Amino acid sequence: MLDHKLRELADSDFYPFHMPGHKRQQTGLEDPYAIDITEIPGFDNLHDPQGLILEAMERMAGLYHAKKSYLLVGGSTCGNLTAVFSALPQKGCILMGRGSHKSIYHAAWLRQCRIVYTYPKVGQIGMIEGTSIAEYEQALQVNPDIGAIVVTSPTYEGMIEPLDEIVALAHARGIPVIVDAAHGAHLGFDPYFPKSPLESGADLVIMSLHKTLPALTQTAVLHVNENSLVSERQIETYLDVFETSSPSYVLMASICQCIRFLEEEKAAFGVYASRLQDFYKKCKSLEKIRVSSFPGQDPGKIVIDVSKTWLSGHALEEILLQKYHLVLEMSSFSYGLAMTSVMDSEEGFVRLFEALKEIDREASARDTDDPCRTGQVLYGRGQKVMEYHEAMEKAKERCALDQAEGRIAASSVAIYPPGVPLIVPGERIDQERIDLLNLAQKQGLTITGLVDHGLFVVI
Ligand SMILES: Cc1ncc(COP(=O)(O)O)c(C=O)c1O
Repeated sequence: MLDHKLRELADSDFYPFHMPGHKRQQTGLEDPYAIDITEIPGFDNLHDPQGLILEAMERMAGLYHAKKSYLLVGGSTCGNLTAVFSALPQKGCILMGRGSHKSIYHAAWLRQCRIVYTYPKVGQIGMIEGTSIAEYEQALQVNPDIGAIVVTSPTYEGMIEPLDEIVALAHARGIPVIVDAAHGAHLGFDPYFPKSPLESGADLVIMSLHKTLPALTQTAVLHVNENSLVSERQIETYLDVFETSSPSYVLMASICQCIRFLEEEKAAFGVYASRLQDFYKKCKSLEKIRVSSFPGQDPGKIVIDVSKTWLSGHALEEILLQKYHLVLEMSSFSYGLAMTSVMDSEEGFVRLFEALKEIDREASARDTDDPCRTGQVLYGRGQKVMEYHEAMEKAKERCALDQAEGRIAASSVAIYPPGVPLIVPGERIDQERIDLLNLAQKQGLTITGLVDHGLFVVI
């Protein structure tokens, strides 16, 4: 059973270049049974914090320079749902990145939003490389009914959006900006990393503590910035809807430990930064594999570009796993992603570099470049026929992938991770996307949203 397999993993030498950010290291939490309680007197209530939980919220807000910070035990998913519902009325118009996490899509669906997308630039290796400010300007000009903007920054791969400019544009029109910074809880603690989205003046910022900091899975925080255009009353109303009525005290204890770590162990971020710098420097010696952080990218996300080797990203992930016992966070057609945190050890970085050096040596002796893998247009503009929420409510039927061209999608289809949808409900399905999904299947990538290899389509 799963519990036994987890124990085996804990006892093995497999090294986690993936979430959670504690990297399977004990950070002082006791036996979980001993501290797993319900709302008994003296231990406060997450849904009406007045004592110890309020104190933790205040210390969290102090660390991130927020006006108020709500602790979450349902991940950034809970924070994103709450933020969208708080910022927009039912049937409001939302401007959101096409690369948004599914929780943002789900919020827009349930809020019955009219959705306008910004489309990111996609680089040579099929990775999202940020969105130009012109995308936002144009969308705001053409759609004067936009009531809220959602930006993902950093992205899964660590790309940072031009938040200062986006916030200035939005606030000039009285529109709130929500930043899904699920991958950015570690920002703002050392100058080697990009600045925190709160510094750019975003109204609401959601961060998963568990992704990049030493905290248990599902721990997160929703920050309300000074001068936020979204009211705290709205946020509290929807937190009550989306957060469990039995919040785990084990998870809340883990959040408290994370707060203490951030207060007391600031120097650890400097050590982490110099390990990363050293790693990137050594990687300059690799010939075929490219490992360099992009300008403006969070260097904590190590993108391993194998587009000039005989390997696909997925094959690289398999070799690192099977031969070197190094577990990546994800892989795509032409790259793998190693997710690091302040808890990574020197030994972890050395093992990753030595493995890449060996693979690179083999790559140099082999033929390169599989042209069908590179430069894929992963996130092209979709042709919207109806709103997402309308498509979800229509009668659906199943359709084989190869016969889906021209039909209207009624399910969201994504290569996972990162889970950014290639097709969303309400869009017409084109051959380009079908070809890409077939290729992804051939390469063994995980695809979500296909039923028995087919699609749900609306009649
Ligand atoms: C960009 C982004 N936003 C939100 C989430 C959801 O975060 P959580 O797992 O904490 O609910 C994820 C999860 O991977 C994500 O990648």
